[in-house]
Formats: sequence, structure tokens, C-alpha cells
Amino acid sequence: MSEKYISVEELNVYYQGHELLKDVNVNIPEKRIVCIIGPSGSGKTMLLRCFNRFIDLNEELSFSGRILMDGVNILDKSVDVIKLRASVGMISQKPYPLPMSIYDNVAYGPRLHGEGDKSRLDHTVKESLNQAALWDEVKDRLNEPATKLSIGQQQRLCLARVLAVKPKILLCDEATSALDPVSSHKIEQQILKLSKEYTIIMSTHNIHQAKRLADYVIYVYLGSLIEHGPAKEIFKNPKHERTQAYLKGEYYEEYTVDREVDLREFGEPVNYMKTKEALDNMQVGQVLRLIVNTREALKDIPKGLETEGQKIIHRKTLNKKDWEIVVRKLE
Ligand SMILES: Nc1ncnc2c1ncn2[C@@H]1O[C@H](COP(=O)(O)OP(=O)(O)OP(=O)(O)O)[C@@H](O)[C@H]1O
Ligand SMILES: [Mg+2]
Repeated sequence: MSEKYISVEELNVYYQGHELLKDVNVNIPEKRIVCIIGPSGSGKTMLLRCFNRFIDLNEELSFSGRILMDGVNILDKSVDVIKLRASVGMISQKPYPLPMSIYDNVAYGPRLHGEGDKSRLDHTVKESLNQAALWDEVKDRLNEPATKLSIGQQQRLCLARVLAVKPKILLCDEATSALDPVSSHKIEQQILKLSKEYTIIMSTHNIHQAKRLADYVIYVYLGSLIEHGPAKEIFKNPKHERTQAYLKGEYYEEYTVDREVDLREFGEPVNYMKTKEALDNMQVGQVLRLIVNTREALKDIPKGLETEGQKIIHRKTLNKKDWEIVVRKLE
């Protein structure tokens, strides 16, 4: 069977003239677990909120582009968002159980969509609680208020509530970040099981979780999609240096090069003198890019510069013989 996709095409989200998502293009494989990763504020939640049109809830946000699900552009104004939200369920970081019993929480969606038959509702409630790995813990107290459950149980209840309306897509926005490791593990196990039937698009700050769960990874940074691909490829061989830095837990510093010096023809100590000479003619805050072709220079030049109070932004291999050192002048 050929792989099916949800296609995101030229998606932009704006807020008061700022672009919160910029030209996002990606094909999301169906019935897989897709993890959106990236630093705080990069647009993970915003991207998730496009799939169920939660962005409509904020009048200050506007959007353009297309998201094709089964050939239908769900961003089209004519789309019935109530129907859409039944097929695209969302669980968020903090569980929000409705102020009613455990049973009624799960039965809420099916009832809203017209289900009145008690035995069918009983069946759906049990099935959904089972799928959320909560049934055994609550089966004897279905009529108790949902707010009496622990936070981890409440999150699984929210998962059951979403599953009860039989969605096709499940959006999980940092769904385990507020949970203890045991509850978090339970949710992860259910997500893995559910991915056989559902397309799961989740955001996470937790790289280990993404490694455990993801089939496909999307890396976003400041509203732009930087890199995406099968999880194995992204984790083993990220192509973009921003993704590389993020996966290593390093801070990625934005910079533009103001000056460049090729040191490949100079040995020590001339290469260091040339570096100093270049820095002497630069202003504080400016960035110098050096190219070297010995491992000694790659080690010694940054060491010397750091001792003198300069900031090494990074060292990088260019090819088998050459490396670059990027330094910001601070002194
Ligand atoms: N309702 C809103 N109105 C205006 N700007 C918003 C709104 N919601 C989010 N933003 C902005 O959009 C950008 C992306 O926010 P978003 O919540 O998607 O980030 P995130 O990647 O989910 O971050 P985090 O990891 O902290 O959850 C941020 O700059 C944020 O300030
Ligand atoms: Mg978020």
C-alpha cells in the first residue's frame, strides 16, 4: 500500500503584521507518529492549531496556504470546523477535564454528535478508556467527578474523551510534559499503539521522547520549517546546523560574517598574528570567519582567542582538510 500524506502547502500565519509561521511546506505521512520539535516560541503549537483550525479562535491571527487532508483543503473558509474538529482531536499540555463525571466526560463528544443509545455509549466509554489505558483504574468509579482524578489520570481521560469521537488525527501538544514519568510512559505506550490506526502529530521538547516515538520529525525554528524527514535520518544525520545544535542541546547563535581570513597558507605563529590583526580592525560585536587546515590551528587559535575574551561561536569541518572557526569580537 502506498503511503498517504497530509500536505501542508505554503502555510503562513500572521499576527499584527508579524509572520508566526513562514511558508511551511511538508507532507505528513498518515498513520505515523510525527514529532514537531524546536525551541520555545518556534511555532510548534501554532502549527498544530492549524490542523484543527483552533487558530480561528483568535481573531487577531490570520493565515494563508493550504492543508490537504484526503484532497480537501481544511483551511478553506467553507469547511465545517465542528466536523473537522471531530476528526482531528487535540490534547494539550494541561488536562482540562469537564466539570462532570468521568463517564460523562468521555460520553460528551458522542452525545454532542447525536449518540443517545445507552448501550452504545457504554461501549464507547469503555473502549475509549481502555485505549487511553485508564479503564482498569476508573471502572468502579465512573460516576465520580473527573476533577478527583490525578493529573496523569486526567490527561488520559482527556485522551479518552478525544478518542470517543473516533478521530482520524490526534494532535498532542506537549501532552506529557506536565506528567510524572509513570503517567508519561503510559501515554507514550498508548500513542505507540494508536499510531497503527491514527495519524499522530505531536509537539515535544523532549528529544528522548521524540527518539522513542517518532517515525517522522519536523524541526521548526522561529516560525520556519528548517528540516524534516524520517526520524532515523534526522536523528542520525541532521543536515542543517541549527538542527544539529538543537539535537546536541547547544545554543545556536545567529550571526552574519563581517570579515573572513583564509589562514591555510600560514603556519604558527603567523596564523594567530593574522587573526589578531583582522580583529584589531573590527568593531566590538562583529564576526570573523577563519579558515584553517591543521588540527593544531583548529584547537590553538580558539583557545588563544577565548583567553583574550573573544567569543567562539563555533568550529566546523568544511571538508576532509579544512575547518572554519567563527568568532565574535567582544574585547
Ligand atoms: N494568540 C497569539 N497571538 C499572537 N502571537 C502568538 C499567539 N500565540 C503564540 N504567539 C506567538 O507565536 C510564536 C509561536 O508560538 P508557539 O506557541 O507556537 O511556540 P511553541 O513552539 O509552541 O513554544 P513552546 O515550546 O514554548 O510551547 C511565538 O512568538 C508566540 O509569541
Ligand atoms: Mg507550544
